[in-house]
Amino acid sequence: MQPKGEPLYPSAATGTPATRPPTRIDELSAEERAVYATLKPEGLPRHVAIIMDGNGRWAGRRSLKRFLGHQQGAKTVQFVTETAARIGLPWLTLYAFSLENNLRRPRAEVSFLMRLLKTYLDDNLERMMKNNIRLRSIGRTHDLPPDVQERMRAAEEATSRNTGTTLTLALNYGARSELVDAFRKLAEEVKHKHLNPEQIGEEDIHRHLYTAHMPDPDLLIRTSGELRVSNFLLWQIAYTEIFVTERFWPDFRGIHLLEAIADFQRRERRYGGIGESCGEVEEDPERMKVAVS
Ligand code: FPP
Repeated sequence: MQPKGEPLYPSAATGTPATRPPTRIDELSAEERAVYATLKPEGLPRHVAIIMDGNGRWAGRRSLKRFLGHQQGAKTVQFVTETAARIGLPWLTLYAFSLENNLRRPRAEVSFLMRLLKTYLDDNLERMMKNNIRLRSIGRTHDLPPDVQERMRAAEEATSRNTGTTLTLALNYGARSELVDAFRKLAEEVKHKHLNPEQIGEEDIHRHLYTAHMPDPDLLIRTSGELRVSNFLLWQIAYTEIFVTERFWPDFRGIHLLEAIADFQRRERRYGGIGESCGEVEEDPERMKVAVS
């Protein structure tokens, strides 16, 4: 399922296990187990990224205030992460708070989201430990309120020796700013003559991304039906399969993650090559000449 030459579980200096985390299938619900049974174990994704959307609309449909949608959305984060842990998914990355959310949402909503994140960390640390989940974050987290940074740092430290699913929260994240940050670092290397501009390759950009320690997502899920990628992991999703569901994030559950993976397994990933059902290859260059003349 992965391009030739790419290791299945890139192990990095971050303590990432070199093998897929063990599964705990007996802890799935009966419905989840039924979907899981249809999956091909050798075709499971290494990395699933999710754009969690629709909290506000979920609340609106119920004539509730938006913040109640976010509160329900935070519960969903834990449900889905635990299913991911039970099936031994190595990497799960969630778009929890974008740079644009920070700049364009009412201050009261932004500060509610920050408080919700702190409460989420306080309430779920024990469950993360129990589920062997390692918490990480990506984004311009240094611009988050100091108390939020401190809580994240403590939770990351507490879970740093866990060897199961790595849950990465994208916080104050924007893909274009991630690229700006990477290019600034490259420019520094050029300035100090550690890098020859003529030799800059994709690998040089990759090693300065916030996600340098993880494989690119195999599958990107977006809830609530919007057909856009909203400045999320733009470099990393070059060959990612995209799955969009109409379901609002607060209604999303582990079973829907498994259904998205089942759909992913029905796709043929070609990485710009040609697939099995794409017509016969012509070996004779002469016959091809005739076709274009
Ligand atoms: C989109 O809903 C969602 C977000 C702003 C980010 C996701 C936030 C959460 C799931 C809650 C907290 C997360 C953690 C990790 C504790 P929206 O408000 O854009 O929905 P709408 O498009 O329907 O208005």
